[in-house]
Amino acid sequence: MEYLEGSVLGIETSCDETSVAIIDGRKILSNIVCSQADLHQKWGGIVPESASRKHVENFLPTLEEALTVSGVRLDELSGIGVTNRPGLIGALSVGVSAARSLALCLDCPLLGVDHLEGHLLSPFLVEDVRFPHVCLLVSGGHTALYIVEGVGEYRKIGGTLDDAAGEAFDKTARVLGLGYPGGPAIERAGMEGDSRRYVLSGGLVGDTYDFSFSGLKTAMLYLARDEGERLDVASAAASFEETITSVLARRSLRALEAFDCELLTVVGGVAANRRLRHKLEEGLEHLGRKLVAVPQVLCTDNAAMIAHVASIRLARGERSGIEMDTFATSELSGG
Ligand code: KG4
Ligand code: ZN
Repeated sequence: MEYLEGSVLGIETSCDETSVAIIDGRKILSNIVCSQADLHQKWGGIVPESASRKHVENFLPTLEEALTVSGVRLDELSGIGVTNRPGLIGALSVGVSAARSLALCLDCPLLGVDHLEGHLLSPFLVEDVRFPHVCLLVSGGHTALYIVEGVGEYRKIGGTLDDAAGEAFDKTARVLGLGYPGGPAIERAGMEGDSRRYVLSGGLVGDTYDFSFSGLKTAMLYLARDEGERLDVASAAASFEETITSVLARRSLRALEAFDCELLTVVGGVAANRRLRHKLEEGLEHLGRKLVAVPQVLCTDNAAMIAHVASIRLARGERSGIEMDTFATSELSGG
């Protein structure tokens, strides 16, 4: 992979993490993530207006920390990358306005980055991954399978018809009274439970690369309502986690075989889930193929993956104008 020479600043504010990173090639010099999870905890989800305000409040301290940790000065930057799609428009606008101002003042090349491409190429931050490969992208906003044939060459072969996997984790955690974000809360609670205690349906069956999690979410709602006080929360969490990770793993492994790829990458917030990683590793070992999963801090939203895409694309001569806009959807999300 070819990178822009020198340090590249990345900015990520598409959802509920304010993040600023500085990388040089694929070396991460700093990657500061300031989470708003506490703020959104009481609502069990993200309140867009509050998220935007919080980004405004957190941006400068996060930038300062990223500069201090990296030891890089603003006037030493070779490029700036910022998430400008897909995401909450108000939240994206905070990062994009900051990036535009910095690029203008520093006379520095600027690039708008697709958040999903940030996730898709994140495995390259840890390893020289070969093309083509299959990528399972599982986050709070998106769930899809792609054949990754090169930079910018992403063929979506399946995706969720309703909720994203992370969204299903978050909503189920709310039903079980486990807090936000739901993924880590369910994983923690499930450790004490019996994953076979409740039998749940994983949605679509048959030869498909698509997913549907709304039925599972509703089943959890009914289970909690019907069982009431009797509900074994730990086992309900474990059963939910077992069901959803089994579906994700099964479809990914089938895609790998059908498209004859040697390697699977798993990216996005839900890729931090240990049960999912274990299932994928087990299945791949059986097939004699390989998994590349990034460390947890690179699974959930972070600016290093944005700086990384910017560095690759700026090196190819791509630039965004200072009037760069924000978009709620992107080509990669199918919107
Ligand atoms: O990629 P990400 O940080 O943000 C989006 O782009 O959406 O993903 C956030 C999602 C949340 O829904 C969160 O519950 C989920 O990732 N998540 C997990 C785990 N850690 C985060 N899901 C399952 N297990 C985890 N350990
Ligand atoms: Zn994300």
